[in-house]
Amino acid sequence: MAKKAAQYPHGDRTWWQEARFGMFIHWGLYSVLGRHEWVQNRESIPPEVYEKYQEFFEPDLFNPQEWARMAKNAGMKYLVITAKHHEGFCMFDSKYTDYKARRDYIREVVDAYRAEGLRVGFYYSLLDWHHPQFRIDCFHPLYVKPGWEQLNQQRDQKKYTEYMRQQVRELLTNYGKIDILWFDFSYPSKDGTGKGREDWESEKLLKLIRSLQPDILLDDRMDLPGAGDFQSPEQYVPARGIRDENGALLPWEGCQTFSGSWGYHRDEQTWKTPHDLITMLVNHVSRGGNLLLNVGPTARGYFDQRAQASLEAIGAWMKFHSPSIYGCTIAPEEYPEPEHCRYTYNPVTGRLFLHLYSWPQKFLHLPQLAGKVKFARFLHDGSEILRKEPVALPHGHMNAAVGSDVLTLILPPVAPKVEVPVIEIFLN
Ligand code: GLC
Repeated sequence: MAKKAAQYPHGDRTWWQEARFGMFIHWGLYSVLGRHEWVQNRESIPPEVYEKYQEFFEPDLFNPQEWARMAKNAGMKYLVITAKHHEGFCMFDSKYTDYKARRDYIREVVDAYRAEGLRVGFYYSLLDWHHPQFRIDCFHPLYVKPGWEQLNQQRDQKKYTEYMRQQVRELLTNYGKIDILWFDFSYPSKDGTGKGREDWESEKLLKLIRSLQPDILLDDRMDLPGAGDFQSPEQYVPARGIRDENGALLPWEGCQTFSGSWGYHRDEQTWKTPHDLITMLVNHVSRGGNLLLNVGPTARGYFDQRAQASLEAIGAWMKFHSPSIYGCTIAPEEYPEPEHCRYTYNPVTGRLFLHLYSWPQKFLHLPQLAGKVKFARFLHDGSEILRKEPVALPHGHMNAAVGSDVLTLILPPVAPKVEVPVIEIFLN
């Protein structure tokens, strides 16, 4: 039986909510195949065939300092990297398996990111498509109908959970203070084709984690409601953030890709534009969440040109606009967002940040703000935005008619040359 939410201890979420923006890295053998990190499942590649790719994993251009600099320049404050993905191949040095990289890449990455002042966390897959004791289920590459149950006769899931705990212990003792542990994922089902808390022995796992690193932040994917420190919606932004039954905002982090795949995918063409990426970041923060944005490094160990260009574009915007991201959250409900705009709000400074997704002509009307604003400026250059409150009624030939609670900003005819303009509003 899962306990009630309140009974689980929690880690330290303060730094994380202030940070708002992190880098996810999916790097493993799948980068050699270059066709999505689920390629082993999608193409039903048996473990003994898939493992041969080890020979061709040669990251000769691996440069973790460069990765860390790129993350930092993009404005990211923390890292979550795959120590092991569903394929089972370990990117860290584990005593408990030979199915691992020739170098401890995880250690080198952790050192490099810390040196840039970023926090670090591990992604660890609960699934394992290589471990001989992991019981075959609906996602396993050996899942065949009928016959999969028979394949399971030699498999003892308890031996696998023991292995998981040993590896989690390694990850949480050999690398210093770890800020986040990101488990992936649960898919319980009654007919035995899925897996959930019993299959992972989640309670035991949780106890181990909290005993080793009490402050660590844990995601919500081990099928123990209330045990996670944050929720992890994938590739979407919840319309009003995520809330409890009383309407209070809960901590959450959306994870997103540049192009749909998490692992390096050479032929994937649906890359988001800089505008897509920056509005995506704002969308998360404006609904009270964090964004964990993923890079899938190549098999030779570098971020490909598309990823680099995307990070640079975000960095160019963040250089001038990060105050509307760090420490910000959803705006008080009394201020409704004008069309094609998003607010973020810094509860400490009491400032409101208005993000303009399209450029209005001259007037921008802000409901509920008449009489409440002492100054407004562009965030990128600090220059004043003139305002009228409220604009005279009825229609003049240079004035729009608006309600008496409306503050009107008077904008220049041409948008500033930044990807998403932001107006910083100083409330009285
Ligand atoms: C999914 C996928 C996985 C990816 C993860 C990131 O659940 O299984 O490949 O690592 O999402 O959130």
